[in-house]
Amino acid sequence: MTDKKNKLEHIAVIMDGNGRWAQKRGMPRTVGHKKGAETVKEITRAAGELGIKYLTLYAFSTENWQRSEDEVNALMDLLREYLKSDIKELQENGVRIIFIGERDMLATDIVEQMKKVEEETINNNKMVLCIALSYGSRQEIVNAARRIAVLFKRGDIEPEDIDIKMFSDMLYTKDIPDPDILIRTSGEHRISNYLLWQLAYAEMFFTDTLWPDFSRKELEQIIQDYQTRERRYGKV
Ligand code: IPE
Ligand code: IPE
Ligand code: MG
Repeated sequence: MTDKKNKLEHIAVIMDGNGRWAQKRGMPRTVGHKKGAETVKEITRAAGELGIKYLTLYAFSTENWQRSEDEVNALMDLLREYLKSDIKELQENGVRIIFIGERDMLATDIVEQMKKVEEETINNNKMVLCIALSYGSRQEIVNAARRIAVLFKRGDIEPEDIDIKMFSDMLYTKDIPDPDILIRTSGEHRISNYLLWQLAYAEMFFTDTLWPDFSRKELEQIIQDYQTRERRYGKV
């Protein structure tokens, strides 16, 4: 082991396995989502205490709209509850909350609550909690391309003006550095339309642990493991 330290600002998480956690116990999937929401609180707290500046959590994908109406409704109700009651602790701990994703697919009361939470926490600077909600990376990239096309059509830019920086600035994540670590729980080894652009050089961690069982201890182990990795960015 070396004593070099990799930069660690941003951890992105695919919180997966809620449904299986419940089904293993003979309970409806929604019970797993409820337990998963508890893990969100624990891990947010832990990340703050560990000095992580950005934590991005995949809460609901654009593809998750295709689940049963009952499950989608249960998830939206959990979200309403989270937006109302769990913000206080985040506020006290200096956490700024932002949302990324397709807002026009969400119910208006939820969108309003999201805006309110973003505004209320805008000056907090200990950590940024970014919640990916109704989020799909391909749609995000398509939206960016459209915005750039509009600028070109208006004559505001030339094709040569389009570069990596400019494109990044058109994404929902424009104010956030790229993730250093991606964690996916539940034993699935895929990205599922998450931060496709932003994860270009992230270190990947896949754990079999189901999200409701994921703990601060496991997060700490991942961070420790991350510090032993060599990030080469294509160099030698
Ligand atoms: C992750 O758990 C939460 C969401 C996708 C909303 P899942 O609901 O995908 O649980 P599994 O993967 O079916 O176990
Ligand atoms: C990814 O999990 C989305 C979230 C964690 C919110 P899924 O369970 O939806 O992904 P797939 O279907 O296994 O790829
Ligand atoms: Mg899943």
